[in-house]
Parts: sequence; structure tokens; C-alpha cells
Amino acid sequence: MTEAITFDPQQKLFVLRTHRSFYAMRILPDGQLVHVKYAPADPAVQPLRLSLLDEYPGSDWASWENQTRLWEFPAFGDISYHDAALKAAFPAASGLLAAQDAAIYPIRDLRPRYRRHEIRTDAIPGHSPAHGRSVRKQATARQTLIMEMQDIGFDFIVRLFYRLTPEWDIIERWAELENRTTMPVTMESLAFATIHLPLGEYDLTRTAGAWAREFIPVTQSLQQGLTVLKQQGLNTGHSINPAFLVQPRGQATPESGPTYFGALAYSGNWSIRFESLPTDPIRIHGGYETDDFALHLAPGERHTTPAFVFGVADDGFDGASHRLHNFARDYVLPVSVHGASRPVLYNSWEAVYFDMTVESQVRLARLAAAIGVELFCVDDGWFKGRRSDHAGLGDWVVDRTIFPDGLNPLIEEVKKLGMRFGLWVEPEMVNPNSDLYRVHPDWVLHFPTRPRTELRQQLILDFGRPEVVRHVHTMLDALLEQYDITFFKWDMNRHATEPGSVAGQEIWFRHVAGVYSIMDQLRQKYPRLEIQSCSGGGGRVDLGILARVEQVWTSDNTDALDRVYIQDGFSLFYPPGVMESWVTHEHNHQTGRVLPLEVRFDTAMRGVLGIGTNLDRLSAEELDTYRRNIAFYRKIRPIIEQGRLHRLAWVQDHGASAWQMVLPDGSQSVYSLVVVHSLLGHQVPCHPLRGLVPEATYRITDASERELLRLSGAQLMTLGLPGNHQHIYVKAGIRSRTVLLSRID
Ligand code: DGJ
Repeated sequence: MTEAITFDPQQKLFVLRTHRSFYAMRILPDGQLVHVKYAPADPAVQPLRLSLLDEYPGSDWASWENQTRLWEFPAFGDISYHDAALKAAFPAASGLLAAQDAAIYPIRDLRPRYRRHEIRTDAIPGHSPAHGRSVRKQATARQTLIMEMQDIGFDFIVRLFYRLTPEWDIIERWAELENRTTMPVTMESLAFATIHLPLGEYDLTRTAGAWAREFIPVTQSLQQGLTVLKQQGLNTGHSINPAFLVQPRGQATPESGPTYFGALAYSGNWSIRFESLPTDPIRIHGGYETDDFALHLAPGERHTTPAFVFGVADDGFDGASHRLHNFARDYVLPVSVHGASRPVLYNSWEAVYFDMTVESQVRLARLAAAIGVELFCVDDGWFKGRRSDHAGLGDWVVDRTIFPDGLNPLIEEVKKLGMRFGLWVEPEMVNPNSDLYRVHPDWVLHFPTRPRTELRQQLILDFGRPEVVRHVHTMLDALLEQYDITFFKWDMNRHATEPGSVAGQEIWFRHVAGVYSIMDQLRQKYPRLEIQSCSGGGGRVDLGILARVEQVWTSDNTDALDRVYIQDGFSLFYPPGVMESWVTHEHNHQTGRVLPLEVRFDTAMRGVLGIGTNLDRLSAEELDTYRRNIAFYRKIRPIIEQGRLHRLAWVQDHGASAWQMVLPDGSQSVYSLVVVHSLLGHQVPCHPLRGLVPEATYRITDASERELLRLSGAQLMTLGLPGNHQHIYVKAGIRSRTVLLSRID
């Protein structure tokens, strides 16, 4: 392994190198750790000569000192006009003061100084150790720099971790705090890391939206001041996802140029704060959301934050996405014992909603198996008292009025049909109309004596209580013990209100820790278990949850055309191979739009294909079309899961979304076009393809296995794939196509 992390003791300079970037920081004579530079770098021009003053607008250190120092992890205390990465209060230190003064003079001043460092090499996958280690994953060895800092007065330790993934130009950072004093310390804010961008003007791209329109890409310029992205609902969030791309204005486009990217590996309240001061480069603090945050560290206690994953690409958005996708595949996602590919799934939700009977499920299972489905998932409505969304959550036992003999007869049938069995659960929730709530009304988030706001008639269990976390774990464990369930769809359908908990303000991260620990324990005990993360759609998608789930539900909106916007945004950060998409009814249940089956398949085939239609109502001919498309999907699935994604056209900019996935050796590729808006006569261009072998010949086939053309890689990469114009004179104004390109010589 090449030396990715080096330390020059003379200059007291650390340089972290990835294949195409470098990151440098230095220890000043007083022990402060300052950032020097982070930029893309061609390996041909390394090693670089770094000048400490390069990054500073003023060379007069004395006069500019407090404005221009780029503290690697700025702590609140001496600088209070910058946004800080961490803020501590040492109340008991005021034992030196009279009692009445002690209350008003907690020492909110933390000054960490360099103590020692260590460079470790290990082959551990996943993120920061406390927040996500993918199960069963073999990872290549990577280097981690551990920088240990201590406060100038208190025996309070701040450790900064930097783990490098050189091949994907990614650095994961997290922090660890250790209270070695004899007094309790309260952290009032805590980031996982702060990064600095070189001086310049930048544009930020991230996602925005809401329930049913998650992941819509938005670009804004970063102006002087603070730009804050955050989520306060207890989950990762529907409206803004904790991930971003930043490009220097005028130097980059979506296809090219330097692109910084980052994502938090965390599924709770988070914030990413872009701070631009008049004299400074941009700082980016990523970590726990600061509102209503508190972390109490008793003497001797430690806390390890989740990771802030970031990197820089020199080839635009596609380059950034490519690195993040591969990082997730290689180091984050769990490895399934069932094989590398995600199964084609059937989900009962839109087919029957709460109108569930054992007979209807058996009928659906038979039809699903006949069209090529591999995993049959029973959604909401199977457990005690759950005949609508007004009752039942919390009582995770089978409803005997629906399944008189339990789930086993259905599971046996599903297995006999050659499919695996999956089940919907929403373990963090309770309906007031449930046995659990009747026995334990105090087990929910609430402030005593105050009203409890119900959303979808449900309340959130208080995971600040260890007995609640144990209870939820026991309920799920009992289901897995009793039934051959290999897949949980783990849902979470509301945000937090009245966040009162026995854990106080720590509930925000204790809740997430509880969810993670239950998932981790279940996965350890039941290695065949896979999980889908769902939170009323795409409310829990992040690199933290991806360490313990195989796939995610990106939106409750299953309209194929709306979905394309969601897919474009989702794919900026997360690999298509985890993005569950369903083909649902011709008359869409969310938007009422009527779309041809081909368009619904073409959209759903871009990720993990699911079927949500009531198959019982389809004709034999329609079922045959389903079967044919599923067979085609199974053929192209490895390319969707492992190929490099090129976004050739964005729906927001071009009215059409064109994706190309291509295997690293260029042997196979999938081209997927979905036209959302098109004026009559408007010609959709033939997009030049990428990543093919110029001298090779490719056979191009469609979902019916029809050969459409044979063309050379060179032609496809210059003139594009012909045929888009054939779709222009259509009344509906909507067309889509998915084709497979296979190298034949
Ligand atoms: C929200 C999910 O996103 C849907 O797919 C479905 O599972 C419902 N919850 C069930 O209540």
C-alpha cells in the first residue's frame, strides 16, 4: 500500500493523499492544529510544495490571527464569532467560584492543543466504530490518522480521526471526546468534522423536497454568511438529505471540473453549515444539529461521533457520484448471504392496503412468482388490530382474524413458489389504540402534563428508555424466531414532536443509537435477514443506515414521471443499486396520472425493481408483459448494480432524464431514457454514450430481446444511440426506452 498519510516533523505538516487529491494541515508552535489546503491534485504533480501562507489573505499573523486561522476543528471559547465545531461547558470547574457565581460562569472555553498522533492501518469496513460497521464485509486495508488533542487546562481529550479511501478520493472523519476530568462536562454542540475549501466563490448543489417529492436537486450560490442545511425530525429527513456537492463558480460544470462532495453517515437530527466569512475560505461543519442538543459526559466517559464522509473529484458531478457510489458499495453496504444481486420484490401495499386476507396474499404470491418475482413482502396490515392506520402499531403479533393459522401457511406457500418472504414493520411507533400503549402510556416521547401530538394517529416510543429498546428488540426477535422472514421493510412514518424523554436532550442521538443497535443485533443473530429502510418514503436514506440495510425506499410517490426527478437527485449521492422503485397501477394512486406499462418499467428498472400492482386484476396479456420486462431486468441487473452511472441528460434541465450505466471494462451497458416533457415535434437528442470500447462492436437489444442495431463503440460515443427521435410524434408526449448494449467482439 502506498503511503497515504505522511507527517513531516520539521514542518509539523500532515499530508493526506488520495489518488487524485491532497489534504494538508499543520501544527502551530502553540499546538493549535490548522488547516492548510484541500484540493484535487493530479498524481503526476505530486509531491506538492505547500506554503502555510498560501491559504491566508493576510500574511501578518499577529494582526490577522483570530480572523484568519483555519482551525482544523474550531472549538468555542477564544473565538466566539466564528461558527464552532464543538462547544463545551465545564460547570463544576466553577467550584473555584462562590456558589451563586458558579451557575453563571460555567467555563464555555475549550482550547484543544496537539498532544500526539498515530497512523493506524486496518481492514475494517464501515464508518466511525460507534456508528456503523457493515456486517460480513471484507474491506481492503486503509490508513487512519488519529490526532489527539487536549485542552490547555482540563484533562479533556478531543481525538480527530481521518480514514482514507485513496481509490475513491474519500476521507472519512469523525471525532471522539473523552472526559478525563473529575467533573461532568456538557457538550452544547458537536460536529463530526469541519472541512475548509480553498479561497474562492462556490455553488452548492443539494436536494430539497418533501414527502412524495424527495431528492429534488437544487443549486444555490454560497454567499457571505452562514448557509445551513439541517433536519430536526428525528429521522434523516424527507426535505433535505445530508449530502452535498460544491463547485468553484465558473470552473466546473456537472460533467467536469473540481467538485467537492460530502455526506453524513447518520440517521438523526443533523446539520451541515457552510460558513463564509469575509476574510476566510469556506468552512463546512457537518454533525449533530445544534438546536436542542446536549451531550453529557460524566467523568471517565467517552463519546464517538458518526462520520462525515467527504471527497473531491476533478470530473464534475458524475465523478463525485461515481466515487460515492463505489465507496458505498465497497465499504458501507452489507454483504448479503443471499448473493450479490438485490431480488425483484413484490409489495402488497398499493395492491390491497389494509384490506388484507390470507387468500388475497396467497393469490398475489402465486401470480408474483409466475412473473419472476424473487421476494414477496407483506406490507402494513398483517398484525393485531391493524385494519386501518388508527390502531395496532406496537402490537407485533399476527392478527388471527386475517391469518387464523399464523403466517406460516403463507410463508410456506411463498417458499414453495421459489420466493423469499419479507414483512413490513414500524418498530419505533405506537398507536394509542394498542395494547402496548394501554399498558405503557409513559413509554412515548412527551412532556408530562402536556398534550401529545399524534401524526397519522401515532406516537413515537421513547428510545431514551433502555427497557423500550429492549422491548422492541424482543418483539422483532420473536417474529424472526418464529417465522422464516428474510426481509424487513423497516418503516418510520412520522417526525418527532414534544421530544420529552427520560434521556432529556440526548434523546436525539439516543434514538438513532437504539435503532442502529436493534438492527445490528438482529442482523448478527439472523444472518439471512435483510432490511429495507423506509420512512414514509425516502425519509431515512443516508450513509449511516446504508451500513445496515440493503436497500432504501426513496418515495411513496410511485408515479413513474415524478419518480424520474427523485432518481436524478438520489443518484447524485447514493448508488442506483440500493434504490427501490416499483411498477404500480396504470392509474397512479398518488398523482392520478395514467402511464403506459413500458414507461413504468423503464423508470422502475433503474434501481431495485419492485412490483406493487394488484396482479389479480391484470389480464393474461398484461401479466405476460410483466414477465418479459422482469426477465429483461434480471439480465441488465448486474450492470445497474455495478456499472458506472453517467447522467447524460437531467430531467430538470432537459425535460428528459437519460442514464447510462456501463461496466468498468466497457463490455456491457444500459441506456435508459425517460422523457417527461416534450412539445409536439420536439426532438430528443441522441446522447453520445460514455465508457465503451471504441473499437468494439455492440449489439443493442430491447426488453423483448429484439436486436435493434449493431454499432461500434466509437460511433456510439460520438453520435450517440440513434432512435430517440422516433418517439416524438406521440399524443401523450411521453416516451421512454431501456436498451442493453453488449459487446460482441
Ligand atoms: C409508508 C410506506 O412508505 C409505504 O410504502 C407503506 O409501507 C406505508 N407506510 C404503510 O403504512
